Amino acid sequence: MTPREQLIAWLGDAHAMEVGIVTTLEKHIADAEGLPKVRAALKKHLAETKKHATAVKQALKSLDAGHPVIREGISKVVNAVAGIGTSLAKDTPVKNAIADFATEHFEIACYTSLAQTADAVGEKKIAATCRAILKEEQAMAKTLEAQFKDVNAFYLRSLDSDEPKRATRASRPRSRTTAAVATARTKAPARAKPRTRKAPVRRKSATRR
Ligand SMILES: [Fe+2]
Ligand SMILES: [Fe+2]
Repeated sequence: MTPREQLIAWLGDAHAMEVGIVTTLEKHIADAEGLPKVRAALKKHLAETKKHATAVKQALKSLDAGHPVIREGISKVVNAVAGIGTSLAKDTPVKNAIADFATEHFEIACYTSLAQTADAVGEKKIAATCRAILKEEQAMAKTLEAQFKDVNAFYLRSLDSDEPKRATRASRPRSRTTAAVATARTKAPARAKPRTRKAPVRRKSATRR
């Protein structure tokens, strides 16, 4: 395999990755109910991701490799990351945020490597394309990082509203702690008592023998 063929193969990987991310983002947009800022950011990046797929496909065409091969290996990695949030668990918005943040960093790594490979092969236009995509991945990663606080708070609030009765008895965890402390405090004298009781027990067993 020549370096140029390797560039083609990796661009094929990137194309498969972008196509897979389109599907994931569409699902995560649907999941982001009640999180308008998250939904807006995901919608914006969905449009960018479709543009990335087209740009990579055009790069492949420019290298006379117009039919990108779906590379299973990289698709599996992306799907595995996206799969963190595929269940219908109540914490889906948080899991999606984690998966999306991880995916963006995976893309950042891919396009950093691709841009350097394109440079090495002398494909300056493709390198520029990769760096332009890279900037959008980095911007999305920063947006997602900034949104973690709101997503976490949104989910935790939903837990409180689910269990109002338990919330009013929220002293339970504290009382458990204080109970544990109280038990620990009372343990010392409790140990002292058996010492005095042990003597008669031994006497009884001794008399039986
Ligand atoms: Fe992308
Ligand atoms: Fe992305």
